[in-house]
Order: sequence, then C-alpha cells, then structure tokens
Amino acid sequence: MAPIIRIEEIARYVGQEATLRGWLQLKTGKGKLQFLRVRDGAGIIQAVIFQGNVSAEVFEAARRLPLESSLIVTGVVKADPRAPGVPGGYELDVRDLKVIQESAEYPIGPKEHGVEFLMDNRHLWLRSNRQWAILRTRATIVKAMRDWLDDNGFVLVDTPILTPAAAEGTTTLFQTDFHGEPAFLAQTGQLYNEANIFAFGRVYCFGPTFRAEKSKTRRHLQEFWMVEPEIAFCKLEELLEIEEQYISYIVQTTLAERAAELKFLERDTTHLAKVIPPFPRISYDEAVERINAAAAQGAVVPPNDEPLPPLAWGGDFGAPHETFIASQFDKPVFVHHYPSAIKAFYMEPEPGRSQVCRSADLLAPEGYGEIIGGSERMSDPEVLLAAIDRHGLPRRPYEWYVDLRRYGSVSHSGFGLGVERTVSWICGLDHIRETIAFPRMLNRLTP
Ligand code: 4AD
Ligand code: MG
Repeated sequence: MAPIIRIEEIARYVGQEATLRGWLQLKTGKGKLQFLRVRDGAGIIQAVIFQGNVSAEVFEAARRLPLESSLIVTGVVKADPRAPGVPGGYELDVRDLKVIQESAEYPIGPKEHGVEFLMDNRHLWLRSNRQWAILRTRATIVKAMRDWLDDNGFVLVDTPILTPAAAEGTTTLFQTDFHGEPAFLAQTGQLYNEANIFAFGRVYCFGPTFRAEKSKTRRHLQEFWMVEPEIAFCKLEELLEIEEQYISYIVQTTLAERAAELKFLERDTTHLAKVIPPFPRISYDEAVERINAAAAQGAVVPPNDEPLPPLAWGGDFGAPHETFIASQFDKPVFVHHYPSAIKAFYMEPEPGRSQVCRSADLLAPEGYGEIIGGSERMSDPEVLLAAIDRHGLPRRPYEWYVDLRRYGSVSHSGFGLGVERTVSWICGLDHIRETIAFPRMLNRLTP
C-alpha cells in the first residue's frame, strides 16, 4: 500500500508510489493522456494519467470528472524541473484514482468574475490559488507577530470582547445587550493591557476588535484582528525602537518563509527587503508642512493621481496625506506628536506643549497607510480624569482604569498593529477584503 502523503512532502517520495487526497482544480487532456491539476491544501501538483497505466474505468472516470470533485489518487512521484505546482518540480504518474464525490457544476471558472460575485461565493473562492497564497501568508505573519513577543519577554494575557465603555471614541461602537445593560464589542484590548502590565511588566493581547466605521474604503473592516503589546517603564522613544524591531522581524520572516506564495501573488519585494531598523521619524508638524508645500505645487497621489489636498494644522490625515508622507521615504515612517484633539483620550500630553501628545503612528510604504497606532499613556490620575471629562466620557466605567494611576503608577506605552493592514501591505493587495477568510465590511455580513 502506498503511503498517504501531503503535497508539501512530495520531494521525499521521488521514485516511489504515494497517495494524495484532494480536489481537482483544472483538467486538460487529449487522446491517451489526461492532466489533472490536484490541490490538497498543502500544495498543488499535476497528476498525469496515461491510458495504458490505469484501468479503462479509471481512465473514463478521469475524462468525465468535473472540476472541484474530491478524489484520492495514487501514482509514482517523478521529478521534473519544468513541472508547475507548489512546490514546483514534481509530477504524479497515476496508477489509480478513486472519485469521492463528483462535484456539481462549480460556479467559479477560470474566466474573470466580478468582485461582488466572488465575495458572495467567498466560501468557495477561498479555494483559489490566490486566496490560498494570501491566507497562508497571513498565517505566517500572525505566527511571526506572536513569536517575536513570546521570545522577548511579553506575556500573552487575553482581554475581554464584551466591554462596558468606549476606548477609541464613541462613534464606532457596536452596541449589544448584556442582560438589559448596554455593552460594546471591544475596539481594543489596550485598557485591560494597562492593568495587566502592573502584574506582568510586558504583555500583549491578540484578538478580534470591532469598529462600526461608516467607511467603505480599501483599508477598513468592521471586524479586524489586532496585536497589542503594552510595556511598563517605557517612554515613547523606547516604544518606537521596539516597534521597528518588531515590524522588521515580521516582514523579514515572512519574506523568507513565504517566498513561493509572494511570487505567486507577483509581489515585488524590493521595498519589503529594505524594512530594517532604523525607520525614519517625523513630527506631525513637519508632516503638515511637507503636505502643504507639496499641495501648493500641485502634487498628486496614487493610485488615481488625485490632487493632494492641503491640511490645516490640527486636522487628521486622510488616505492621500498618508500616501504622500509615506512616499517621501523608502521604509515605513513614524509620524509622532499628533494634536491631542484628534487622538484617543488616554495619550500622555507632551510636557510644556499640552496641545500635542506623545503618540506615534507607523505609516507603511507604497500607499498602505497606517498600520500601527501607539502612544505613551497618561500616568497621572488627575490629568486622566480631566481628559475623560473633556472627551465627554462618563467617569464610572473608567474608575478602575484611573485606579491604575493610584497604585504604583509608572510611565508606560503600547501600540496596536492591525493584522489585515499588515497582510495587505506585505502581500501587495489592492483591497483589505482578501486578507481575512470571511471579511465583515460595511455592506457585508455573509457568508
Ligand atoms: O490606531 P488604532 O485605533 O489604535 C488602537 O486601537 C490602540 N488602542 C492600539 C494600542 O495602542 N494598543 O488601531 C490600531 C491599528 C491601526 O493602525 C490599523 O492597523 C488597525 O489597527 N485598524 C484597522 N484595521 C482594519 N480596519 C479598521 N477599521 C481598523 N481600524 C484600525
Ligand atoms: Mg489609529
């Protein structure tokens, strides 16, 4: 009996018989030959059926087999450097074939389909090579995100999804009913991370977060995954050094481990290879000056060459501003010291200049926008209470959060890195909808 193997192990079986279990992805053939492209989730291979090598029933079954049928195929593994597939260079010379189920007519064909059609059929579209390559790359990115933190003294502490209060502004809350009390789906785990650092020093949470954003853009999801490290005894400057080490590790690990997938996606990795510390840093003030100088000269920004709009000091960046700033550098760039008025309530004001805060966002190159939001946190209870009042937030649900500043308060900082924005950037995608298996977007809750 031939061993049952996964296509990723194929190299070890050259010259031997092996059995693969998978699905028929593509079929061609003429005369005495049938070529079946088989995928098993771990790889893709061409199975060649020569009429003389199999029974008449098997040859006939293969000839009639509809795409996406499930099957078990046994054959001799042959090395051939020209053979397509993942990993390329191998072929299966078929001796036997068992059809598990003949598929009904598959709605997704090799011809072009509209995006809405593909999104409606997301449960099937996931099987396509491109989606397969993206989601395998995502898994590696997520693993790298966890590995670096686990190896650098951070303790994973999971934070709640059902929360009593807003953390990132009250306009993007998903409200739900907690036995008659209003509750909100977490926009972030940060506030709980801040409690956890007093027990563990360095922590992170990693989970789904929710934003009822009215934005229908290529960068926004309603539900996205975020990794959020938080560090005690850490000022903004030290935080940025951690962030640049972290991002470089994630990018370089993914380049090394998912080279085949990125090639599949036709990703030009020139920019990614340069993602090595240190990253440039500019202040919000300088960013606004650069934007206005370029806007005055009629600068345009990709992808549609729209004119770069000027920006009054105090305004938040739009996508064109972020794209423009990032285009000035060949690595990700930190923009720091934003106006406090456009940031969350908990950010530490800059001493001697309280209208700006000790915050920094990281903008990815090539127009992928903000991938990290981070800051130093307020460490004084009175300053924090005043900020809660100023933002019109009720004091009660934040009492425990203010408490953290009463019992051994220290300077502390943290950041949130969005998984889907990172996947979009590393894979070089036009839209965030392909970065997660089942995206939740403004107009989409199914499948
Ligand atoms: O800048 P944000 O809102 O920061 C926070 O939530 C902080 N509490 C994080 C922290 O300091 N612990 O979000 C952080 C990142 C963004 O830079 C972006 O990558 C991602 O989360 N993000 C989104 N990704 C997809 N869709 C959305 N609607 C997103 N909103 C934020
Ligand atoms: Mg942000």
